[in-house]
Amino acid sequence: MSEQDVELEARLAEQDEFEPPGSFVEQANVTDPSIYDESADDWPACWEDAATLLDWSTEYEQVLDDSNPPFYEWFTGGELNASANCLDRHLDERGDETAIEWVGELGDTRTYTYRDLHREVNEFAATLRDQGVEADDVVTLYMPMVPELPIAMLACARLGAPHSVVFAGFSANALATRMESADSPVLVTCDGYYRRGEALEHKLKADEGVAAVEHDVTGVVIDRLGDEYEHSMREADHDYDTLIADHEGEKVEPVTRDAEDMLFLMYTSGTTGEPKGVKHTTGGYLSWVAWTSHAVLDVKPEDTYWCSADIGWITGHSYIVYGPLALGTTTVMYEGTPDYPEKDRLWEIVEEYDVTQLYTAPTAIRSFMKWGEEYPARHDLSSLRLLGTVGEPINPRAWKWYYRNIGGESCPVVDTWWQTETGGLMVTTLPGVNSMKPGSAGPPLPGIGSRIVDTDGEEVAAGRAGHLTIQKPWPGMLRTLYQNDERFIEEYWAEYSDTDSGDPDDWVYFPGDGAKIDDDGYLTILGRVDDVVNISGHRLGTMEIESAIVSVEGVAEAAVVGGDHEVKGETVYAYVITEDGYAGDDEMQDAIIAGVEDGIGPIARPEEVVFTPELPKTRSGKIMRRLLEDVANREEVGSTNTLRNPEIVDEIQRQVGGAD
Ligand code: WT7
Repeated sequence: MSEQDVELEARLAEQDEFEPPGSFVEQANVTDPSIYDESADDWPACWEDAATLLDWSTEYEQVLDDSNPPFYEWFTGGELNASANCLDRHLDERGDETAIEWVGELGDTRTYTYRDLHREVNEFAATLRDQGVEADDVVTLYMPMVPELPIAMLACARLGAPHSVVFAGFSANALATRMESADSPVLVTCDGYYRRGEALEHKLKADEGVAAVEHDVTGVVIDRLGDEYEHSMREADHDYDTLIADHEGEKVEPVTRDAEDMLFLMYTSGTTGEPKGVKHTTGGYLSWVAWTSHAVLDVKPEDTYWCSADIGWITGHSYIVYGPLALGTTTVMYEGTPDYPEKDRLWEIVEEYDVTQLYTAPTAIRSFMKWGEEYPARHDLSSLRLLGTVGEPINPRAWKWYYRNIGGESCPVVDTWWQTETGGLMVTTLPGVNSMKPGSAGPPLPGIGSRIVDTDGEEVAAGRAGHLTIQKPWPGMLRTLYQNDERFIEEYWAEYSDTDSGDPDDWVYFPGDGAKIDDDGYLTILGRVDDVVNISGHRLGTMEIESAIVSVEGVAEAAVVGGDHEVKGETVYAYVITEDGYAGDDEMQDAIIAGVEDGIGPIARPEEVVFTPELPKTRSGKIMRRLLEDVANREEVGSTNTLRNPEIVDEIQRQVGGAD
């Protein structure tokens, strides 16, 4: 590092507040700070601004119907179709502009103009209709990052058939659970895809999943690997290319959907073993993702915008597909990993396509830091105008590295807090308005009412840690958990609401995160306070992992916690008691890891399996996870006073390697 660089680094390390760069503000979509006051004075009508970003076939009558909390309804009486909003309405002006710029891992690329995308979405919608798909049938999409994934999503939206995308990295078993839960009759999947140059055989997993589903499943299979891999075809499977060729040039009239009709389901992890089917609707969700893409990600039609997430998670739904396409911009999709073939792959893509916004995860940024600044330095990144992060807290050092080495100190960085359930961004700075404080996501967006409270629901003072709560509904919120209103109330509302009340003021949403607020109203998110872990920005339930482990032969009991990890944020620690006659040996460890990979997927693989004769339990028999977390983090363990077996803590600590 040169002397100048050292100086710069030292200055950045000291600085804890950054003004939005003037060059950015000059052209930003939102620059007027009065938006905060106006939205407070004119709530909930402030969300009409979001709704006006869409084309409605029937104007809505009411912005918010809060007569039956927490079952809020948005833009009631309004009608629209999401695929028409993402495609048809752009054709006149932007038909020949690029909608999707797809980059394969091996360097192959595909460009879809809005006209191309419209055409193929129509053909696939005609195909699905031919296969018997009707409005409100849930279509499962178990696919990697191929262009046919957004095409299938939009084809479903065109028919009014909700999609349920299952992340391709999830196991056969996870697929089966989700298809079963949604009673989903159709599966669109793929033969395979590339990871670090290797062809992964995805179809085998899909077949295994379908075999475990009770009802009949019609399959559509996309051919990504070509002749390289001869994939299986069940009798009820059809080849995607053949089907759409049969429907060449066909048009499907977009089905008119009520604002409150379901657009999609997305399964996510909760505090029990069963994944939750989060239900998002057409009008509220689409307005929310369009508005936040406009106001926070500063998306303009002429941009080349890139969110490097996987569409299998909510980030990709909202900010690769629906938000950017609703605004008529160019959205980049990358199939592979950031270090293949080289550790500068992302920067090569930014340079090649003149990417204007990059939205990625802190875990990726921490990897880039580890690899070194020479990789981004090889490329001209001056096309970038805005940087974003999502999925987990970003530490100030990583924030500053991103700001300097990727953004050249001329791009605002938006640290966006939200979750599957919120549909879109909730807490972040408006990049053309607010200054940025690394490590703190920022204030709640205009119209979002949040408070930090203690366990009694009392607001805590600035600087003190508490639970983040959202006091008012917002358009992008989940409407319920699929066919489970009771669990919806239990998981998100019961903690801080008067659940007998019909007054919306008595209903408070609890996202499950800890947070603190500073004197300027900026929120620092402190991570989950429930039994959910966040591995590389991927959300997993500790109970789900535990149930995968206890189904391994010879395991008596398991407790899973998240331990701190330098790059991944958190990593899985599994404490396991074996049954009599089974040893906690390498073989057992391998069986446990395989059990988790089969039950959930490789992302949930435990980093450490610790065999122990007992788990630390309170006198009432509750496992003290806090202590297990302390042990995982090699920290001094908290009080063991309430334990009925305090001596076990020392033993577990010895196994893990003790405090360093
Ligand atoms: C959980 C939601 C948001 C889409 C991707 C993850 C954590 C998310 C941040 C952030 C600190 C964050 C929270 C949240 N989280 N963004 N900017 N700072 N924490 O969606 O899988 O539903 O997970 O991710 O703990 O509750 P998800």
